[in-house]
Formats: sequence, C-alpha cells, structure tokens
Amino acid sequence: MTLYITQPTERHEIDEVTMQQPEKVYEVKFPDTFLWGAATASFQIEGAAKEDGRAPSVWDMFCRIPKAVYSGHTGDVACDHYHRWKEDIAIMQQLGLQAYRFSIAWPRIQPEGTGKPNPKGLDFYDKLVDGLLAANIVPYATLFHWDLPYELHCRGGWLNRDIADWFADYTRIVVEKLSDRVKYWMTLNEPGVFGILGYRDGIHAPGEKYDYPEMLRLIHNILLTNGRSVQAIRAASKTVAQIGWAHAGGVRIPATEDPKDIAAASHYMFSITSKDLWANTWWLDPVMFGHYPQDGLKIFEPHMPAFPADDMKTIHQKMDFLGCNIYHGPLIKANDKGEPEHVPLPPGYPLTALKWPVTPECLYWGPRFFHDRYKLPIYITENGLSNQDWVALDGKVHDPQRIDYTRRHLIELGRAIADGVDVQGYFHWSLLDNFEWAEGYKERFGLVYVDFPSGKRILKDSAYWYGRTIASNGANLRLPRYSENET
Ligand code: FCB
Repeated sequence: MTLYITQPTERHEIDEVTMQQPEKVYEVKFPDTFLWGAATASFQIEGAAKEDGRAPSVWDMFCRIPKAVYSGHTGDVACDHYHRWKEDIAIMQQLGLQAYRFSIAWPRIQPEGTGKPNPKGLDFYDKLVDGLLAANIVPYATLFHWDLPYELHCRGGWLNRDIADWFADYTRIVVEKLSDRVKYWMTLNEPGVFGILGYRDGIHAPGEKYDYPEMLRLIHNILLTNGRSVQAIRAASKTVAQIGWAHAGGVRIPATEDPKDIAAASHYMFSITSKDLWANTWWLDPVMFGHYPQDGLKIFEPHMPAFPADDMKTIHQKMDFLGCNIYHGPLIKANDKGEPEHVPLPPGYPLTALKWPVTPECLYWGPRFFHDRYKLPIYITENGLSNQDWVALDGKVHDPQRIDYTRRHLIELGRAIADGVDVQGYFHWSLLDNFEWAEGYKERFGLVYVDFPSGKRILKDSAYWYGRTIASNGANLRLPRYSENET
C-alpha cells in the first residue's frame, strides 16, 4: 500500500529525511499559462457589517445564537478588508499573485435580497476590481459564498423556489456592473456544504435541521438557482464569460495504483449506494448531464419533490470549468469482491490543526477523476490548511507545515497535469487568516497572519515561499530546502 505522506519513497523514490535527489524525483512542470492564486470570501474577511447600507446575512444572525460559533465570534469586523482592501491588494502584489478569488456579499448589493441595488455596495467591488486589474491580478468572482440576505431567509430562503428568480436578478445586477472587467465567475461556493451543514446538520447558518424531503427540495432549488444564474451571466456579460462553480470535491484516493483500487475509488466517488446527500453525482450530474443519477433516484425516490419537467433544462447548463475545493480525502481499496472499502490511516498519521488528514494525493486523484467524468477544465478553487500559527519572538510567523502541505499537494497537482489532466490554476485557501465559520477566528488558514484585535497583517514564511513558487512557476517545488531562510 502506498501511503504517500508516510512512505514517500515508494512514490517518489526520495529520502524524506535527507531529501536526496530532488531534481530527479520532483520534476514538476506547470504550463506557462497556469494561474497561481489565492482565495477569500466576503463574510470571512470584510467586516463592516453595518456599513454603507449592508443588511444582515444569515451568518450575522447565526453568530448571535449562543454557542453557535466558537467563543461567540462574529463577522462584524473580521479582517476589516472592507477598509483595508488596498493594503490587501498590495500584499497580493508582493506575493506576485496572478489571480484572486473573492466573493461578493449579496446583502451589500441588495440588502433585503431583492429590489434596487445599493450603489455603495456595488461601488466597493467596482473599486476592488479596478485595484486588482491595476495590480495585474485577474479577478475570479464568486457570486455566493454563503452570506444569504437574512430577509430572504425569512421568506423561505433556499426552500422557496423563488430564490432562483431572486438570485438571477442579483446576478444580473453584479454582472452588468463588473463584467466589462470580470470574465471569470463562480456562481455558488460549495453548494453541498452550505446546504447540508446549514440546513440538515444545523451547525452552519442558518442552523436548520431538515429531513430528506425538505433537503431534496432545497438541493433542487439550489441547482435551479445555479442554472438561472449561469443564464443570467451569459445574458448580461459584456465579455465572453467563463463560468463554473466551486464544488466541495468529495475525493476518494486509491490506496494503491493497482487498477482494481483505482476503479474502486473512482466508482465510490461517483456512485450513490446510501442516502448520502454529499454524493458528488447528486450535485454535479444534473448540471453537467441534465438528470439526477439513476442510482440516487432509486434511493431518494420516496422523498423526492415533484418539480416541473422544464426544471432540468434550466439546471442543465454549459459550464466552462469545474472549480474544485479539495483539502483531503479517504483512502479506498477494492475488497475481495472488487467493492470499495475504506483503508484506515495508521495511528499517528499527520493531521492539520483542524484534525484533517494530510493526504496530498487528493490533488492528483481529485482533478483526474473529476476531469475523466465531466470533461471540463479544472481549477483548484480552494486548498490549504489551518495551522497553529503565532508570531514568534523574532516578530515573524514560521509555518513550515503550511509550506510542506502546499508543496506536497502542488507536486501531486503537477503530476495530474503531467498525466494529461486539464488543470488551469490553483487558488490557495486562504490569502488571509479569517473567520472560519463555526470555528470563528480559532483556525488560521492564511498565507498572511492577521492580528485580529489590531488588524495588522504579517506575511507568514509560507507567503514568501508561495511568492517564490509563483515566480518560478512551480520550479522551486523541487528544491530540497524549503523551511529555512524563508523571509
Ligand atoms: C471551505 C469553505 C471556505 C473555508 C474552507 C476552509 O469549505 O469554502 O470558506 O471555510 O473550507
């Protein structure tokens, strides 16, 4: 069995301790057109919750429920990016970022979720986009990264199929304003995650706990909304838009390169054998193929909502790329009957601060499997880790784990590209430490450290390292030394 992280020698024939022969084994080459970026989301960084006409989102309200968010943290100030965006763009420039993925806060654009746009809200993103372009950074805009206007929640939110109209109107407003300069759009961020954690598990906003009938209706409305949003972008865009969404990639990693294990992992990744609302195909097949997967329909049939036949036409839209947010994945092998079976990780296996396993091969198999099935160019729209970072006595933030994690994952991504997978770019999550949803500010995902009480930013070692990675178009991934002299 090849466990890359514990036995790198099997895969890369390199001695992890001495890092011998790196030139030979880490020969990673990224195409010249490959885009190096970083990502954020409006609610997680902006703050200025009550400024310039912004109304509350479901997350503002959720933060006020006792114990819903770690230590009662809120997004009221966050990284104060709303006021510090110029400084943040200067940091991006310092890193040499080529692309920046950010999201637009619906409650800034339409505070009540419908009706006339709020000029001040639009103005903020207008200036941000100008600032990015002036810094030579390509803007990648996400229309929805979970901050649903609270008013719409009170009108039924995602359970009300009118949301498709509301969102299409919001999309039109944003695209009319920005599409002379923004070409790349992502409609929704991780529909599965906000759907399931927010409406079934109740651990994300708005904190509901629905059962299958409501959940399947809600998912259907999300898919319909995506379809309407894609149509609205194409109709309103002033340039030829490139559209995707950021899927929470449920990646399965073959435990070995035995074809049986590869087939088992791929089969597991794209089949539904239980009432699993996370299933990749339940979310992606309708959009890409125009129908729910048959195996899932059999299982969910008793709970399925009735919907107009035309809905599938709206849901089935041509997407230009598939954004994948990939952080880790379980190892799968074929059992004696050829069926997929989980392979437990050995005791002591490396974990991030959030206790997510470090499984770099997810950035090989994820893009490869998604690309094989959906035949679309792939972007890694998120990948990264939360790490126990603090300011050392020398005033710097040393985060060798982030460098190692990112390096391992990028090596795997490079391998996917070398094997023919069309991967267009990589967005590290995240540019800044930020509000990590129910975990509040406890988790630090940034390349840049944020001292939340003062708002001060400090580039971590990983930020400098990532800057060099970008400058060398990935060539420095081969270098044996990477944790010393980073700043
Ligand atoms: C993803 C979210 C992103 C961030 C990372 C860690 O699920 O899209 O906002 O919270 O996880």
